[in-house]
Amino acid sequence: MRLYIETYGCQMNVADSELIFGMLDREGYVRVEDPAGADVMLVNTCAVRDNAEQRVIGRMGELQRHKRPGSVLGVVGCMAQRLGPALLQQVPRVDMVVGPDAYRNLPELIRMAQAGERTSDTEFRAWEHYEDVPPVRESGPTAFVTVQRGCDYRCTFCIVPQTRGPERSRRLQDIVREVVELAGQGTSEVTLLGQTVNSFHDGEHDFADLLRAVGAVDGIRRLRFTSPYPTDFTPRCIEAMATTPAVCGHVHLPVQSGSNAVLRRMLRRYTRERYLEVVAALRSALPGITFSTDIIVGFPGETEAQFEETLTLVNDADFDDAYTFKYSVRQGTPAVRLGDHLADEVASARLRRLIDAVRSNTRRKNAARVGQCHEVLVERAAKRGNLMLARTRGNHLVLLDLPAGTVGEYHIARLTGTTGSTFTGTVAAPALAVL
Ligand code: SAH
Ligand code: F3S
Repeated sequence: MRLYIETYGCQMNVADSELIFGMLDREGYVRVEDPAGADVMLVNTCAVRDNAEQRVIGRMGELQRHKRPGSVLGVVGCMAQRLGPALLQQVPRVDMVVGPDAYRNLPELIRMAQAGERTSDTEFRAWEHYEDVPPVRESGPTAFVTVQRGCDYRCTFCIVPQTRGPERSRRLQDIVREVVELAGQGTSEVTLLGQTVNSFHDGEHDFADLLRAVGAVDGIRRLRFTSPYPTDFTPRCIEAMATTPAVCGHVHLPVQSGSNAVLRRMLRRYTRERYLEVVAALRSALPGITFSTDIIVGFPGETEAQFEETLTLVNDADFDDAYTFKYSVRQGTPAVRLGDHLADEVASARLRRLIDAVRSNTRRKNAARVGQCHEVLVERAAKRGNLMLARTRGNHLVLLDLPAGTVGEYHIARLTGTTGSTFTGTVAAPALAVL
C-alpha cells in the first residue's frame, strides 16, 4: 500500500504527519512523494485561519483527480476536527475525516473507507500521546519532538483548543528516551513542541526539568522549543535556559498585540508591560538572545491608536522577526461575539504597515550583524546555486559555499552579507566537537 501525505500548518502538524507515517508503517504502508498512484492520500490540515482552510479545499479538488477505484482520500488534522462529518458532505469525494486524537484508528478507518464506507472520527481522547508509536522521520540533523498536545488557554480568537482538545504533557522519561534514540541516529538539534510548551508539566517535572534532561542527552548540541506562553516562563525555567548549554538563544514568543485593551479582549494573560518584562528577563539571562513573535492585526474593536501601540511594540521589544496575520474570524471562538469587526481594507492596510515596521527593524538588526562570527549547523542544500543552508543558534539562515556532504556539520561562519532576512557567509573555522 502506498501512502501520500501533504502537510499544512504548524510544526506540530509536521510532527503529526511523521506519527501517522509511523502508525501506517506498522501496517506495511510505504511512503510515496507523488499522489498519482497512491492507495491512500491524506491531507493534514490547519484551521487557524480561513485562508489556510480555503487552500486545503482547493487542493482537495486537485487531489481527487488522482483517485482510482479503491483508493482513499482523507482529511486529517485541525480542519478535520473543526468541521467533522460536515466535511464529508461539503467535499463529495472525501472518504475519511480524522481529528488529531484519532490517528490510532487510522488503519481501521482506512479499511472501512476502502470498503466503500465514508467515515469520520473526531473524538477527543485526553489520554492520547501515541507513546507506543515511533514516528517515521526523514533522518537529518534536526527533529521536532512533541512534548505536549492540546491547549487549556482560551485566547478568544483561537480555534486550537477546539481542534486539539485539552492540554496534556508526555512524561519526561518518554521524551528523553525518544531524544536519546534521535541522537543515536545522528540528530543533534531538537525542537520541543507544544501550544504553550513552557507550561509543560508531567505531574512530577516542569519545563525547567525537561530542558535540563533533554539538554543533557549525549549528542544533543542544540535545543529549541516552540511556542512558549509569555507568562509561563518561571524563574526556574529561565535559570534552566541560561545554564543548559544546548538551549539556543532564540525564543519565538507570540505577543499578538501591543495594546492592553486588545490583549484583554483576546484574553491573553499579560499586559504589554509584563510582556516586555519577560523579554528583558530573558535578555539579561541569555545575552544575545533573539526574539521572533506572532502578531494579529484587525482584531474586533482594534482602533487606529491601539494598532499604533502594536507598531511601537515592534521597536520596544526589538523583535528580530515576526509572523504577522490579519485577524480571521473562526466560528465557535468567543471573538465571534465581540462587536465592531473591522472592514477588510482597514485590516489589510494595517497589515501592510506592520509588515513594513517589522521588515525595517529586521533589516537594521541584520545589517549590524554582518561581520560577526556565529556557530552554524548545516541543514540542507539551498534551493539556488550550489550553496548549503545553515542556521545560527539565534535562528538566522546563512548560505555557505560548502559541499553537499556537509549536512549535519557545525562550523563557525563569518556573516559577509544580508538580504535583510537571510545571510551569506564564509566558513571561518570548523566548530569544536564539544559545546
Ligand atoms: N499556541 C500557539 C498558537 C497557535 S496558532 C502559540 O502560542 O504559538 C499560531 C498563531 O496563529 C497564533 O500565535 C496567532 O498569531 C495566529 N492566529 C491564531 N488564531 C488566529 C485567527 N483567528 N486569526 C488570525 N491569526 C490567528
Ligand atoms: Fe491558541 Fe492561545 Fe492556546 S493562541 S493555542 S488558545 S495559547
